[in-house]
Amino acid sequence: MSSSVQAELVCFEASCRERFAITEVLYNCPKCGGLMEAAYSGTRPSAGELRDLFRQRRLSNAPVDTSGVWRYRELFPFMNDNAHVVTLREGNTPLLDGPLAAQYGGLDKITFKHQGFNPTGSFKDNGMTCGASQARRLGMKRVACVSTGNTSASMAAYAAAAGLEALIFLPHGNISFGKLAQALEYGARTLEVEANFDQILALVRVLAERLGIYLLNSMNPFRVEGQKSIVFEMLDQRDWNPPDWIVLPGGNLGNTSAFGKALREAHELGLIAKMPRLAVIQAEGAAPFHEMFHKGGELHAVTNPETLATAIRIGDPVSWPKALHEVRSSCGTVEKVTEQEIADAKAMIGRAGIGCEPASAATLAGIRKLTAAGVMREDADVVAVLTGNVLKDPDYIYKYHTGKLETPSGVKIRSTFGNQPIVVPNDADRIAALLQ
Ligand code: F0G
Repeated sequence: MSSSVQAELVCFEASCRERFAITEVLYNCPKCGGLMEAAYSGTRPSAGELRDLFRQRRLSNAPVDTSGVWRYRELFPFMNDNAHVVTLREGNTPLLDGPLAAQYGGLDKITFKHQGFNPTGSFKDNGMTCGASQARRLGMKRVACVSTGNTSASMAAYAAAAGLEALIFLPHGNISFGKLAQALEYGARTLEVEANFDQILALVRVLAERLGIYLLNSMNPFRVEGQKSIVFEMLDQRDWNPPDWIVLPGGNLGNTSAFGKALREAHELGLIAKMPRLAVIQAEGAAPFHEMFHKGGELHAVTNPETLATAIRIGDPVSWPKALHEVRSSCGTVEKVTEQEIADAKAMIGRAGIGCEPASAATLAGIRKLTAAGVMREDADVVAVLTGNVLKDPDYIYKYHTGKLETPSGVKIRSTFGNQPIVVPNDADRIAALLQ
C-alpha cells in the first residue's frame, strides 16, 4: 500500500488559493480574508485498500483505531505524529432506523446517524479531537471558543484530556443547563458574556490574537477535518453505499462545510460512486443561509436571531461561503422550519425511542416540508444527522410535554404529542383504577 502525502493550509477562495504550512495558526487567509482549509497532495492508497484498512482497524485495540474519527485518518492526513492525538474514543455512533419518524417525515424509511452517542453527547467531539490534537502538536497552552453550548462542552473535555487550559465564552442566559454544566464539570474557565453568539465570536477573535490563545471554533480548519469523519463512518457503515440525501441542521455552518468536503473527497478517491445531496435545515428565527440560498446575493446577517433550538441560534454564520459551495455542488437545498415544527418533530424522534436535542430535530421537521413540497421523494434513501443527545436540554422537553413551552417572543407551543406525568396518591386501588 503506497502513500506519501503532503498537507497544507490553503485559502478556500477560488480566486486566491494562497498556500501555507500546515503548522501555521490561521483561521482566515492573511492575503484575502477567506476561510482556510486543509488540502492534501501526493499519492494515497487505493479506494479498495482504504476500505479494507478501515475494516481491519475495527479489530484493533489501539486508541487511534478504536476512535471512530482517527480510524479514517488517511482521509485527513494532516497529523505528523499520532503521539499528539488526544482521543476520548469519539465517533462510533450508530445508524438507527425510525419507522414512526419516517412516516411523520413523509418517507418510506429514514436512517438517523446519531451523533448524540459521542463522549460529550454531540457531533462536536468528531472535530474537537482533531482541533485539540493540532493544538498539542503546535505546543499551545490555552484553547478558547465561543459556543451555543456543545462546542464548549466538547472543548472543555478534550482540553482537560490533553492537559490544555480551556477558556469558554457563552451567550449569557441562552444555553441549556446541561451544556453549561458539562463545561463546569470538565474544569473550563467559563465566561458568560452579555451578548449573542455572533457578537462574542468577534470579541473572542480579538482576544485570541492578543493573548496568543488557540481558537477552536468551527472556522478552525482541523475541526472541519475531524467532522468529515461523520460522513466517512456513515458511508463505511453502509458499505460505501451513499444515500440519496444527507440532512443536517445549520447554525454556524461548519458541519455543512465538513460534510460537503468529505463527500467530494470520498468521491475523488473512488470510495463512493455518486454524490448524495445535502439538505440543510435552519430555524425560522435564525435562517440567514436559507434566505441567501433562495434569494441569491450576499449573506445578510440576522441581528437578533431567536430560536428555542439554542444550539443553532446564530445570525451571522462564519462558514457560509464554504457551505454555499458544498450545498450547490451537491445539488442540495436549504429549508427553514418553525418552532412548532421543531418541537413536534423532536417529540416524534423521541417516540421512535431515539430522542435528540431541539436543533437536531430540525432535520425531521425539514424532511417533512421537503417531502410535502415534492423536493424529496417518499422512496428516497435519507440519512438525517442527529447532532446532539436528548439529555442536552431536558428543560425544553419537560416544558413541551407539560404544555409550558413558549417561543422566545412568548407564543405558546402546542404540545401536540405531549406526555404529561401524572401525580397519584400512594394507593394501589386508585392507581389500578386509573390504569385500567
Ligand atoms: N446541532 C447542534 C446540536 C449544535 O450544537 C450545532 C452547533 C449545530 C447543530 C449546527 O452546526 O454550527 O456546524 O452549522 N453548535 C455550535 C456550538 C455553534 O457552539 O456548540 P454548525
